Amino acid sequence: MKRTSGVLAVVVTFAATAIAAQAEEFRLGLLTPPPHIWTKAAEAFGAELAEKSGDAHSVAVFPARQLGNEAEMLQQLQTGALDMAFMTVAEVSNRATDLGAFYAPYLANDIAHAGRILRSDTAKALLEPLPGQVGVVGLGYGMAGLRQIVSRGEVESAADLTGLKLRITPFTPILDFYNALGAAPTPMPLPAVYDALANGQVDAIDMDAELIWVLKYYEHADTVIQSDHMMFPMVGLVSARVWADLSEEDRAMIGELMAKHVDGTIDSYVAKEAGWLEQIKDTGKAFRKVDASFFGGAVDDWNAIWSEKAPSLDALRTVAAETK
Ligand code: BEZ
Repeated sequence: MKRTSGVLAVVVTFAATAIAAQAEEFRLGLLTPPPHIWTKAAEAFGAELAEKSGDAHSVAVFPARQLGNEAEMLQQLQTGALDMAFMTVAEVSNRATDLGAFYAPYLANDIAHAGRILRSDTAKALLEPLPGQVGVVGLGYGMAGLRQIVSRGEVESAADLTGLKLRITPFTPILDFYNALGAAPTPMPLPAVYDALANGQVDAIDMDAELIWVLKYYEHADTVIQSDHMMFPMVGLVSARVWADLSEEDRAMIGELMAKHVDGTIDSYVAKEAGWLEQIKDTGKAFRKVDASFFGGAVDDWNAIWSEKAPSLDALRTVAAETK
């Protein structure tokens, strides 16, 4: 009897140790501020992971660049110092050039079309090389709104953007676009943008409707141009090193839940984008809605550069045509 209970105690202790070893608090980093749709999605992912794992796992969310800018967070993911991130595809495309295909100007006709492109198997297949190329596992896409332009001065035609210091997210496809246009693209991470526009460090910014409205960038502008010129995908990432140490069961649970919550951001932008644009219009700032013709030869120039750089561009164009 005594011997049996001793064995039992050892078994129980061993099992408890095994469970404790698997239980984990994951750290998830983002650039976006606490009220942003991406940050809310990260928190919802963490809450559902805790629930579905019976509180074995939890997620500590670090918004607003608390763990560094996206380039730094990507490095931390590579070494395993950071477990997870919801990150702009823009940043990942600095290491995996083919992802630059998403930024083909006017690939998507509107925000819902952008969502359909991102939900395609072709788009999903672009995540497959990431563990080998970048050291991260991409579990699914989300998005922010289509890109617009906010300018401190009057802008009636693209010629008025010539030579302007125009803030861009730091990644090559957008740099190539504004260089082709003759502007002076100025790479700057999101948290620095408000002050830079307010104090005139930049003349204009490339931004989405949500942030133009919610972070009040329009307050420091004379003109808002609704150009809808590019989509802006996000990707849910796990460090490949961290992923390698997870059980099959945990991979399945984390994979499914992260994909679900990043995908949910697509629905949010499709539902809300038009409302933000209406509210921006109602501010009384000069508001121009333009199409690809506004940018003259810059769209063709971009296509010429990126059809060489991004082999997946043709496949994404096929998906775009099929999902119109
Ligand atoms: C930006 O760089 O403009 C940006 C980054 C993350 C979310 C939305 C916008």
